[in-house]
Amino acid sequence: MSQPETTRAPDETPRARKTTKVAVVGAGAVGSTMAYAALMRGSARHVALYDINRAKVEAEALDLSHGIQFMPMAEVVGSDDVAVCADADIIMVTAGAKQKPGQTRLDLAEATISLVSKILPELLAVAPDATYVMVTNPVDIVTYAALKISGLPPTQLFGSGTVLDSSRLRFLIAQHCGVAVQNVHAYMAGEHGDSEIPLWSSATIGGVPLLEWDAIEGRAPLTAEVRDQIAHEVINSAYRIIEGKGATNYAVALAGSRIIEAVLNDEHRVLPVSTLLDDYYGISDICLSVPSIVGRHGVTDRLQVPLSPVEIRGLQHSAASLKEVARRFGV
Ligand code: LAC
Repeated sequence: MSQPETTRAPDETPRARKTTKVAVVGAGAVGSTMAYAALMRGSARHVALYDINRAKVEAEALDLSHGIQFMPMAEVVGSDDVAVCADADIIMVTAGAKQKPGQTRLDLAEATISLVSKILPELLAVAPDATYVMVTNPVDIVTYAALKISGLPPTQLFGSGTVLDSSRLRFLIAQHCGVAVQNVHAYMAGEHGDSEIPLWSSATIGGVPLLEWDAIEGRAPLTAEVRDQIAHEVINSAYRIIEGKGATNYAVALAGSRIIEAVLNDEHRVLPVSTLLDDYYGISDICLSVPSIVGRHGVTDRLQVPLSPVEIRGLQHSAASLKEVARRFGV
């Protein structure tokens, strides 16, 4: 008896897939750790890892697959064929030159823009409807260039920005003040880099304005000197970690997972991602980070956070330095 031809129910076609898929481009320290973080957090049901280094990407995917028993149900694939990213809901671009000890992120601009110019068209061919998140550095310049290369709207393509830096800021504030980091709301804004600024005037700890925070028993007050020291530590965190272990990967990967979840779960979460600004405190036509709403349709709004005159000047300085770099590299 001939076998009935199997047919797939309409909802089984990949485009109608009910489960979620994230593709991570780049199987280096950041990309592989981001895949691991997304799997451990159950951020997505399908995780695809793409890298031109076939041996590396297959090995990373195999190693991750061997741990599926210990994580929320998921499927992991790795390939040097861009088709592995097909129909992804969100694509995290981590591929790029590595920051070496003493190098600034902006030093990587030329190499990374060249790489992104090559891979973006290939990705768009297999995943035209994905949300694209640039992670590779210098992320603000790369995001700005990627928008021009891809022609995607600034809702659909943005950068990881200062999500990581804001996490560093909150950690240091929480450590100094003796409170849980989850109860600290504070942002770094501007460049993911040397010109970023802390938004002290809008920061709060458990609803208490940070600038009115009275030291609790046994803790030092949060003086201007302490705040300056914390900001300095945030801005120089990456240099210190790279000096010690050659790269940063854990926190940036977790920051990436937070962005993945905000998009895939349509969380409308406020995150300081790097987006193309249009008259934000007079800043236009450059990508940098301000607190923004992130959900299923990417970045939909930028919050008009109250800024002090010092913070406005700092943000405008950050924008000006990024514009100079963009001009220098013809972006
Ligand atoms: C850092 C890299 C991701 O700040 O730029 O750790």
